[in-house]
Amino acid sequence: MIHPILKLGDARLQSPAEPVKSVSPETDRLIDDMIATMYAAPGIGLAAPQMGVPLRTFVIDLSMGRDPAALITMINPEWVEREGMQLEEEGCLSLPGFTATVPRPARAVVRGWDRRGETRTIEGTELLARALQHEMDHLDGRLFVDRLRGIKRDLILRKARKLARAGKW
Ligand code: NI
Repeated sequence: MIHPILKLGDARLQSPAEPVKSVSPETDRLIDDMIATMYAAPGIGLAAPQMGVPLRTFVIDLSMGRDPAALITMINPEWVEREGMQLEEEGCLSLPGFTATVPRPARAVVRGWDRRGETRTIEGTELLARALQHEMDHLDGRLFVDRLRGIKRDLILRKARKLARAGKW
């Protein structure tokens, strides 16, 4: 089932998510819904808090559904390694229409469960390292604007509030 994606301004996007206690039919359904919602958006990643579900789970698919092997599901991910720095333009389904240049690690490794509850380690560079950090941030209640400073951040927040007031957010 495709869910609405929460947008900047919703408090549920800014609260740290809780660990998943065990893999169950409910987590399986949640992950199916997250994948469907990510593909429908369309996007390359989605975290459970973006659907209003406060659990530490995200999905990433840089192929946007073209390559079944590219789909990553992570439950209770933890950092294993992060190194280096990259600066690229980035967006988020919770801030439609906005992008910014965000500093992210050049290489990142996370470890968590896959949807069957088996431990998986994912290593990413370039766009995948960026996506891993972006989705991990969602699990900690952080959006990419929270990684910006000064004028750029204020400008995005102000424009989003204006759209919200106009009922266009
Ligand atoms: Ni996002």
